[in-house]
Amino acid sequence: MRSEPVVQVRSLVKRYGTRTAVDGLDLEARPGVTAVLGPNGAGKTTTVETCEGYRRPDSGTVRVLGLDPVAQGDELRPRIGVMLQSGGVYSGARADEMLRHIAALHAHPLDVDALIERLGLGSCGRTGYRRLSGGQQQRLALAMAVVGRPELVFLDEPTAGLDPQARRATWDLVRDLRADGVSVILTTHHMDEAERLADDVAVIDAGRVIAQGSPEELCRGGAENTLRFTGRPGLDVESLLRALPPGSSAAESAPGSYRVDGLVDPQLLATVTSWCAQHGVMPDRISVERHTLEDVFLELTGKELRS
Ligand SMILES: Nc1ncnc2c1ncn2[C@@H]1O[C@H](COP(=O)(O)OP(=O)(O)O)[C@@H](O)[C@H]1O
Ligand SMILES: [Mg+2]
Repeated sequence: MRSEPVVQVRSLVKRYGTRTAVDGLDLEARPGVTAVLGPNGAGKTTTVETCEGYRRPDSGTVRVLGLDPVAQGDELRPRIGVMLQSGGVYSGARADEMLRHIAALHAHPLDVDALIERLGLGSCGRTGYRRLSGGQQQRLALAMAVVGRPELVFLDEPTAGLDPQARRATWDLVRDLRADGVSVILTTHHMDEAERLADDVAVIDAGRVIAQGSPEELCRGGAENTLRFTGRPGLDVESLLRALPPGSSAAESAPGSYRVDGLVDPQLLATVTSWCAQHGVMPDRISVERHTLEDVFLELTGKELRS
């Protein structure tokens, strides 16, 4: 079933002076969790802030829940939750007061105490915002984005700089939102975060989407995988290679350790094991390595994701 997109970006261009931050970006996000994955400076924040109505496109169109975020901002704002990368929290008000205030503005807010507990903010509920640590401020910003139980939440690098425990709590919260039917657009430069959380990933680089799909599709789609097996040293790799489909490669990477690179599918696995049978080879171990989103990014751009 194809449902209506929650976010639809077409040919978006956004410049800062002479610098083009977003360069003809197309993105369609469906209900669920969409990760916008890309290195620093790729244009993630600019794109998300345009969707939130904070920036006006230089050209192209943006629709969020079917609405124009600038022209129909008044209608859109109550339906979305926003966590800015900069934190974007004002005042020196107390953390718990700020959350309760926002909750009171919404018809069906989350339980504030449970949320505070959930995000490990219990100890700082009564502390003023400015005196919270960076990680606490970030978790509070996340809580503020979700407490109104919006239909769609934008989270800009929600786990950047968090310790592993707070990172995990954030992931759990995103999973809960999803289970609750809330759609989430999150930006990240951690491919493991995208792989774990997202139904769909848009890989962006230099202001454009260079690949989009589920983590499985992206890691499989055209991308090469590796099959490894161990057997006796000195097997005839040339003969193995002749049995494999075009585009594959085979090598003895260390004595008795073999690797086959190519489109590793059940057919290729069968070809390798049948070649082994014909040559009286009993592999001690066979493994298939799925490529990660990091590998995919490297293959697409020739660059490391973590710059
Ligand atoms: N306010 C700004 N003024 C000038 N340049 C900016 C501004 N914000 C972002 N940029 C530039 O635009 C590009 C994209 O930035 P950004 O959208 O923040 O990327 P990301 O969130 O992926 O790191 C970068 O080259 C960045 O330096
Ligand atoms: Mg950013």
